[in-house]
Amino acid sequence: MNKEIITIFDTTLRDGEQSPGASMNTEEKVQIATQLERLGVDVIEAGFAAASPGDFDAISKISQRVSNSTVCSLARAIDSDIKSAGEAIKQAKMRRIHTFIATSVIHMEHKLKMTPDEVIKRAVRAVEYARTFVDDVEFSCEDAGRSDMVFLKEITDAVIEAGASTINLPDTVGFRLPQEIGAMVREMSSYTKGRAIISVHNHNDLGLAVANSLESISNGARQVECTINGLGERAGNAALEEIVMALKVRSDIFRDFQTNINTKEIYPSSRLIANITGIEPQPNKAIVGKNAFAHESGIHQDGMLKNKSTYEIISPKDIGLDMEDTLVLGKHSGRSAFKDKLSKLGFSIKEDEINSAFKRFKELADKKKEIYDDDIRALVTSQMTNIPKAYELISLQLMDCSNGVPSAAVTISNNGKEITDAGIGDGTIDAIFKTIDRISGYQGVLMEYKVKSVSKGKDALANVTVKVNFNDNEPAIIGHGLSLDTMLASARAYTGALNSYLSMKGMLKFRHTDSRETI
Ligand code: KIV
Ligand code: ZN
Repeated sequence: MNKEIITIFDTTLRDGEQSPGASMNTEEKVQIATQLERLGVDVIEAGFAAASPGDFDAISKISQRVSNSTVCSLARAIDSDIKSAGEAIKQAKMRRIHTFIATSVIHMEHKLKMTPDEVIKRAVRAVEYARTFVDDVEFSCEDAGRSDMVFLKEITDAVIEAGASTINLPDTVGFRLPQEIGAMVREMSSYTKGRAIISVHNHNDLGLAVANSLESISNGARQVECTINGLGERAGNAALEEIVMALKVRSDIFRDFQTNINTKEIYPSSRLIANITGIEPQPNKAIVGKNAFAHESGIHQDGMLKNKSTYEIISPKDIGLDMEDTLVLGKHSGRSAFKDKLSKLGFSIKEDEINSAFKRFKELADKKKEIYDDDIRALVTSQMTNIPKAYELISLQLMDCSNGVPSAAVTISNNGKEITDAGIGDGTIDAIFKTIDRISGYQGVLMEYKVKSVSKGKDALANVTVKVNFNDNEPAIIGHGLSLDTMLASARAYTGALNSYLSMKGMLKFRHTDSRETI
């Protein structure tokens, strides 16, 4: 029997990036988009082109890189936004503009201060203008979940007539229950009767985003908008991995549907996004949480040993998680074994990048007894997301802080010129960051500091994420640092944030190709 395809529209790079603390730089976004393509998502919402030059740049670069997924940019129903979106995606093989305006009385009266007629006119204009750039236009009725059904039908007729082929009905504030979303989708699907694809975009404020998405599919939605790890504004969006695995595991119920997702790429995608954003899924998060396949109680362990189906409804292998992820390679492993491992983990990186990743792997293998898949992932991700470096940390020395004043001596290379300075602080981290500030001349304000061990063991790699504000009028910047030494990882994360900031401002003039970073 021919199954219907449910279009998976991933908005990790747009709505997901709206999660507090999840902003990413261009290189990181390109890397995520490449992974989403490998995962098999149908549409990648790469960003909001008009939001900033950085967003525009990331969408253009993604458009040049991705060829098997449609690349989409969000745009308000404003000519200048639509023009930016059209220009940002123009090099994509398959492209879509996603334009939206709010349709609920609350939003129209208080936010837009527009009448319903004005909203329809603006929506029609937006769709018609978007069609001058692309054939594939999606229109969203923002806050559809709280909009009047008669008005939803009226605006839907108008935008379909204007050329929209997908109508998205977001539950913007995550207010609706499954039976209510189901009823709305059923009515809108039968009303549009194949004139457009009905899509849903559910937020998770009541923890119902995935349930609402599944109920929507049962009632006629043929596109779901979602994010990896459920990232997104406030409580997040519907989690891609949960929707996809529910459709697969319960194919007895969803027997008429399938997706184009390669589920074995779910776990690598989840890890990549957690490593880049520094936002870890909660340990008990369905499908990708650290404990999702852990069996703690004796009774469960006993059952599992006798027959896995006693307590396991999904095989970890189905999402690309190898539970026997122990020692993957040792210090005697050669370059070809390392290369083979990278391809098994889903990385396709250039020869010269393999060389420097291999060098870093060897250094790690010299110091760390057991190397796990997650170590390799973190190592390669940190290298691939390196943005051009104006500042590169060369060395760090710390003076004792138990009795005296914490102090740090730092050597940094700035466009090839080495500068050394020393400084003191209220703690070791403070001393390191203040010394880097003295060298660079930029004063960063540390907004957030997180350290996470990448895998098991006392000799685990430390992955440090910092969020730094270099200018009050600009958004804070994320930086990551990886090392066996937490202080070194912290110094790298801070220097990385500075490089990202300069890259965002277009002030990076020099590019180091051969990093001197060690583990
Ligand atoms: O939640 C929402 O309504 C949105 C729209 C812009 C689609 O993110
Ligand atoms: Zn949203």
